[in-house]
Amino acid sequence: MPTTPTEDDHSRRLRRGQRWWDLVSSIHGSAGGQTTRVAELALRHLSLRSGQTVLDLGCGSGAALPTLSKAVGPSGRVVGIDNSPKMLARAEVVVRQRDLVNVELRRADATRAEIEPGAFDAAYACSSISAMPDVPAALTSVSGSLRPGGRLFVFDMRLEPRGWSTPGIHLLRWIYAASAGWAGVDVLDAARDVFGDIALPGFPGHEGREQPEAGWPPLTMFVATRTP
Ligand SMILES: C[S@@+](CC[C@H](N)C(=O)[O-])C[C@H]1O[C@@H](n2cnc3c(N)ncnc32)[C@H](O)[C@@H]1O
Repeated sequence: MPTTPTEDDHSRRLRRGQRWWDLVSSIHGSAGGQTTRVAELALRHLSLRSGQTVLDLGCGSGAALPTLSKAVGPSGRVVGIDNSPKMLARAEVVVRQRDLVNVELRRADATRAEIEPGAFDAAYACSSISAMPDVPAALTSVSGSLRPGGRLFVFDMRLEPRGWSTPGIHLLRWIYAASAGWAGVDVLDAARDVFGDIALPGFPGHEGREQPEAGWPPLTMFVATRTP
């Protein structure tokens, strides 16, 4: 089980992460609609309906916001949380330009933020939880924000060295820690300690498996349900 980071470790990783995500914010999301495709995939698993509330944890430059906003409609609500002011500035442009009246953006460290308990029907986290300085705290926080039965959809890195990809994964682990302050904690393993129910639908081509063979691509996709 991962240990809780000291306050010093937490602040150091948070600062490093913020510097990194601020730095890459101008190019983030510009490589084509990868996040949009992941958000569309999430809709299948979150069964979002009009009028529901959804949390976009680590919303970044806001690429998933239009998809989530449309799914819950004008009577629903989307809350995007991110710790990088520059990412949020880009997300604000998306909200304004697309006239997403049901979206609210918040700047916060999602591992420490006060998120309304039980207020959300669903949560979405694309490539964000692994980037946070305290992965178990992020998962506990999002679990507490969900109503019983509420679902969290996660698409994220899974940097477990396996098979022929082991050297590449070690290199990625080093780069991710040095650049964005990766805490070295696996999101899926940590989620198993927090959520009562985890399903692994698998992303297209890798259905029902925790991780592709040989650990490459180093990704995971899962749906965690808050049990009552
Ligand atoms: C790889 S980006 C993903 C952004 C977005 N979800 C997407 O798919 O385009 C990771 C995001 O997590 C955010 N993040 C990292 N640590 C965070 C924290 N402690 N609290 C909130 N957001 C955080 C970063 O600022 C960054 O925008």
